[in-house]
Amino acid sequence: MQTALNPVKEPPVAYNDIIVRRFAFMTVIWGVVGMLVGVVIAAELIWPTLNFDLPYLSYGRLRPLHTNAVIFAFGGSALFASSYHIVQRTCHVRLISDKLANFTFWGWQLVIVLAAITLPLGITQGKEYAELEWPIDLLITVVWVAYAVVFFGTLAIRKVKHIYVANWFFAAYIITIAVLHIVNNLALPVSLTKSYDIYSGVVDAMVEWWYGHNAVGFFLTAAFLGMMYYFVPKQAGRPIYSYRLSIVHFWALISIYMWAGPHHLHYTSLPDWVQSLGMVFSIMLLAPSWGGMINGIMTLSGAWYKLRTDPILKFMIVALSFYGMSTFEGPMMSIKTVNALSHDTDWTIGHVHSGAIGWVAFMTIGSMYSLIPKLWGRREMWSIRLIDVHFWIATIGVVLYVTAMWIAGVMQGLMWRATNADGTLTYTFVESLKATYPYYMVRLAGGVLVLIGMFLMLYNVVKTITATEPRLDVAPVPVPAA
Ligand code: HEM
Ligand code: HEM
Repeated sequence: MQTALNPVKEPPVAYNDIIVRRFAFMTVIWGVVGMLVGVVIAAELIWPTLNFDLPYLSYGRLRPLHTNAVIFAFGGSALFASSYHIVQRTCHVRLISDKLANFTFWGWQLVIVLAAITLPLGITQGKEYAELEWPIDLLITVVWVAYAVVFFGTLAIRKVKHIYVANWFFAAYIITIAVLHIVNNLALPVSLTKSYDIYSGVVDAMVEWWYGHNAVGFFLTAAFLGMMYYFVPKQAGRPIYSYRLSIVHFWALISIYMWAGPHHLHYTSLPDWVQSLGMVFSIMLLAPSWGGMINGIMTLSGAWYKLRTDPILKFMIVALSFYGMSTFEGPMMSIKTVNALSHDTDWTIGHVHSGAIGWVAFMTIGSMYSLIPKLWGRREMWSIRLIDVHFWIATIGVVLYVTAMWIAGVMQGLMWRATNADGTLTYTFVESLKATYPYYMVRLAGGVLVLIGMFLMLYNVVKTITATEPRLDVAPVPVPAA
């Protein structure tokens, strides 16, 4: 059976690496930009005057800029790069259309630039993770359809009968994100920059969190599992621990995720049974999530010694550990009594970033360090030592970030619910805010470390691309005549 190690002999194919290079490079750029904005808003939460009284720099406008930049620009570019790379290598064919693939690159970058302009101007739909107004939504839809045509078209012309499991994850993510994006963004435009949602009240809330949760499930999870299923075996030089487990956990994951959204709406006017349904499905989600984590980590069995010398593998294994942690924590937080404490506190922010930095960013960073030198025909990154420094700085950074938010969150939850004997509140809200400042400082320090790591990565990537060392034996093969 074919694995990511590709024991099936590769026929000479001129793959489209140019498109992968572009997306890979932009991943690093948007990673730096998105995390820089993250650091700015983390600082604004401590020193609100950092907005210099400019509406464009206000927290409320920069926060969605951060989430859009890290999720869709950084994460999205990484997913385009890896899915285009993986689908070609595992199907032994070139992308079905270079033109369409180029269109997805320029289209996606245009979406990002438009987001970077409109969000600071305060143009927003006001829906979390779906802030962009209707003209940009339409552009996203067109780009996404083109992406689906390129990906599925390439799968359709594959030379290998078997479809490698990473592609299953990418396929599920591409289809689901299309459905989520269209249904959640249905709106009535009244001008070029303003539209009204077709949903209202509790239906609006449910549609939004069906979207929001599955954006986590399919964008930030399933697709990055696809990345994991290719790059971890490649880097470890071992086949996947269990191919059967990968298939079982794929089907379990995608069928359970869809139902868990209501855990974002506990104790709201959403019918109680829907909240409980969301809770039960969230708890069940632990099993397939851990199936994926175990499969990834156990792929290293017999190759653990490589962790001593390979910082890229270190990134990947820490990513899988954070994936395991955040998918244990999520089901716990979805239990209504636990959510009564955690909701609206910084515990949620801790959970988000253990998934988003620990899992998503670390897996991306590891995979890009593995992929980028090959794309430019280099043996390895310019400096392995610098990757190691990046690894340690980023690991200390994310641990500081997440633990500070956990402690702050539990503290806030306990302070808000504390009552005196006569039933009055023990603490005012401002007291809880003042108590949180030290933790915000620690979070800022952690964020700065993660950001420094991204700058080191950018430097290392530029040096790798511009290095003058002889290129690897990657003699290009002429494209077969159409
Ligand atoms: C240098 C690294 C980072 C820093 C300093 C940072 C900082 C922040 C801050 C201050 C917030 C607002 C928290 C609040 O409202 O109380 C936030 C929200 C968020 N960040 Fe980050 N972030 C970083 C990296 C990332 C990455 C890499 C991702 C995703 C791949 C990410 C995804 C998010 C999301 C989804 C939210 C919204 C959370 C929610 O609404 O509950 N962040 N970030
Ligand atoms: C088994 C898997 C998971 C479950 C059951 C789960 C569950 C939860 C719960 C209960 C909340 C808090 C909702 C609230 O009180 O408002 C939450 C928030 C969140 N989780 Fe997870 N989580 C899981 C995995 C992940 C992963 C792996 C990531 C990131 C890669 C992630 C990203 C987020 C984000 C971004 C939010 C904040 C949404 C918002 O309010 O803006 N989750 N999750």
